Amino acid sequence: MTTDDLLIAFAEFLSAQDILTAAEDMKPFLQDWRHMFEGAAVCVLLPRSSQDVQRIVQICAEAAVAIVPQGGNTGLAGGATPDSSGGSVVLSLARMNRIIDIDRTGLTVTVEAGMVLDTLRAALAEVDRDLPISFAASGSATLGGILATNAGGANVLRSGMAGRMVLGLEVVLADGTIVSELSGLHKDNSGLNWMQLFVGSEGSLGIITRAVMRIETLRPHSATALLAVADADAALQLYARAVDRIGDRLAAFEIMSRDAIGRVERAFGLKCPIEAQRWLVLIETSSTSSYLEQDFAAFMEEAFESGLCADGAIAASQSQRQAFWRLRENLTEAEALSGRSVKHDISVPVSRMAEFLRRGETLLADVSRQTGATLNPHIFGHIGDGNLHYNILCDRPDAAGALNRAVHDLVVDCGGSITAEHGVGQYRLSEVYRLVSPARLALQERIKAALDPDMILNPGKLIRGDRP
Ligand code: FAD
Ligand code: MLT
Ligand code: ZN
Repeated sequence: MTTDDLLIAFAEFLSAQDILTAAEDMKPFLQDWRHMFEGAAVCVLLPRSSQDVQRIVQICAEAAVAIVPQGGNTGLAGGATPDSSGGSVVLSLARMNRIIDIDRTGLTVTVEAGMVLDTLRAALAEVDRDLPISFAASGSATLGGILATNAGGANVLRSGMAGRMVLGLEVVLADGTIVSELSGLHKDNSGLNWMQLFVGSEGSLGIITRAVMRIETLRPHSATALLAVADADAALQLYARAVDRIGDRLAAFEIMSRDAIGRVERAFGLKCPIEAQRWLVLIETSSTSSYLEQDFAAFMEEAFESGLCADGAIAASQSQRQAFWRLRENLTEAEALSGRSVKHDISVPVSRMAEFLRRGETLLADVSRQTGATLNPHIFGHIGDGNLHYNILCDRPDAAGALNRAVHDLVVDCGGSITAEHGVGQYRLSEVYRLVSPARLALQERIKAALDPDMILNPGKLIRGDRP
């Protein structure tokens, strides 16, 4: 099938504004958020319904044309960017962005995959409900992409990763079959837990078109503080105290290096309200009960008495709380504005976090000496769930590979994972095949061969498609 035949076939059911072919129109869809990957495509398609997606897949399957699903294009592993061959189709779910149902009592929300997270949370708040997933790209990230990457963010320590909130899913398979179970049952053991197969599959096993998510009652009471700590050990001791004293009302526990915050202050003209030592902790609690404030004040008093934090500030208003979060949520942008970075989205057992950071310092000095690169750490992350964004500004692109491998080897030696939440995409594909167990890789290859035998779904991402 020629390119023209393809476009004619798509035009039979998609309107002209939903088929992009002009270079200018396609450009934003062909580059990842970090501008690390740039690809080409026959066209960008913006279907309006699951049936449209089904017909696109059937046409591409028949023509053996690869499909790259895309949501908000905020992924940080290059998973939504096509390769440079120009032979694939980008299928954007952006225009399938409706809320289909909110069940306040059953605590479920049914959405189309292109639903943007912030838009959904605002609509839920109006009916006193919430979907507790929070991270800096939530203004563009979509529920389809969030499930396809099993996104994490700041609230994982309380609510778990996105995949834990899935109660229903509708997926279009590589042959165009639609599998749809959207009743939103909290309990259904009538077969394999098939939905979880697509959580974190990064568009390589099927295209998510709808989802049912478990929601909760909105927690109107929150308390937020910034604390200056000397090292990760102190931060982790504070975290242990917070778990004891505040329990499941602990909503976020973020660590940020002083250097990284300094880049945010300079890039965005913001001011950190406390004189940090090497590290800052942003702690947030939330609850449906107003008793929170006094419990939190007691926790903070203890924290200072213990000497674990040298300075701190409790947000006295919503606007001050938002100012604290602006420091945190601009870290990724400030990093991107500071030059090329080698991103490491790592997780290690919380008990080995301090060891990892200590050994990481020696590692950076060694790599710098061996390669001549200047390495500036820009480290922050969700330390409460053992997830650090161990991002290193590196002035020598030729040193990036050695740095990346050295950090990953240290992570594995500390019993960790080389990607905690951002996923594999194309950015980490070779490192995953170097470090993940052969048994797991082989199992993934068998699943890929079963569900996408012709490898039209997002080839070159997450699963290599090694065929015997
Ligand atoms: P896209 O980037 O469009 O796609 C991501 C992957 O999912 C690709 O492989 C794509 O092919 C696939 N995909 C997209 N939609 C579908 C679908 N409907 N069906 C099947 N496959 C699909 N992530 C975190 O986990 N935690 C964070 O704290 C975090 N912070 C971030 C901060 C910033 C500033 C930025 C830019 C990103 C951050 N991210 C974070 C990464 C990113 O926002 C998440 O991975 C998010 O889930 C991607 O959603 P998206 O809709 O943008 O997906
Ligand atoms: C975040 O937590 O802000 C992102 O996941 C971190 C990153 O950009 O590396
Ligand atoms: Zn993160």
